Amino acid sequence: MELKGKHVIYQGGFGGIGLWSVKKFLERGVKRIAIFDRRVDPRALQELKDVYIDSSIFFVQFDITNNESITEAFESAIKFMGHFDVLVCGIMDDSQVERTINVNLTGMINSTFIALPYMDRSKGGRGGTIVNISSVGGLQPIPYVSVYSGSKHGVTGFTRSMGNPYSYKHLGVNFITICPGITDTDLVANLECKATFEFAKVIAMRFKSAASQSPEMCASNLVKVVETGKNGGVYVLDLAMIEEVNFENVWEPVFR
Ligand SMILES: NC(=O)c1ccc[n+]([C@@H]2O[C@H](COP(=O)([O-])OP(=O)(O)OC[C@H]3O[C@@H](n4cnc5c(N)ncnc54)[C@H](O)[C@@H]3O)[C@@H](O)[C@H]2O)c1
Repeated sequence: MELKGKHVIYQGGFGGIGLWSVKKFLERGVKRIAIFDRRVDPRALQELKDVYIDSSIFFVQFDITNNESITEAFESAIKFMGHFDVLVCGIMDDSQVERTINVNLTGMINSTFIALPYMDRSKGGRGGTIVNISSVGGLQPIPYVSVYSGSKHGVTGFTRSMGNPYSYKHLGVNFITICPGITDTDLVANLECKATFEFAKVIAMRFKSAASQSPEMCASNLVKVVETGKNGGVYVLDLAMIEEVNFENVWEPVFR
């Protein structure tokens, strides 16, 4: 997708990867961008407005665990931008079991379904692309953060299931999954606090010395994937590289 002149909604746009991604979208010349986040960051918002003077930037505070809040956020974004071509969800929490699932998975699914009628071509929308940020931990087990990893497997499974040709025929919406590797944001700063069990803290600490990428590099590659990625595609963004994941089917339905 050519991004110049497009309208983007970025959920989690004040996060470590989010703020860089918002900048990369603006560098591509998107016309309007709406940042949805629970976090309020007036200074970052003002800096964006001062630098990217040719684009319109709008912020809505919202909580992805609350459907009313998601609905209101989309309603005010539509008043601001009329329509949107790209929706990114880059939100996460890993504080306790219910919260992790509610924010990372249930919230992401609900916001996808609340957004879809605005994009759905069969209902007069313009189609577009929905990008959900999963993780390398949403592709393979990460033993010491099993709840986070389980929630991210859900993100990958949901987004891949939505990204099929039959749904595309009706909706005109592409679904892309992004799986970052270790990226230097607040998420990895306190890894030992995120361990599922006390005994797993030692392994968690070891990840602090693992090779990582900057959030700017991850964001650059995220925007490239939005430009070039395919419906149903899953892309690992790790150590400044983009790699598409090729899945083997382990099961096929037998039709009688
Ligand atoms: N940093 C990494 O190493 C890494 C690796 C793999 C995947 N990811 C994924 O990338 C995405 C961005 O991660 P990040 O490292 O930038 O994290 P981050 O913590 O910096 O950003 C997450 C954002 O989510 C927002 N948020 C949290 N709960 C919310 C809620 N209930 N409602 C609305 N907003 C809420 C926060 O305010 C924050 O701006 C996440 O989906 C994360 O799981 C990150």
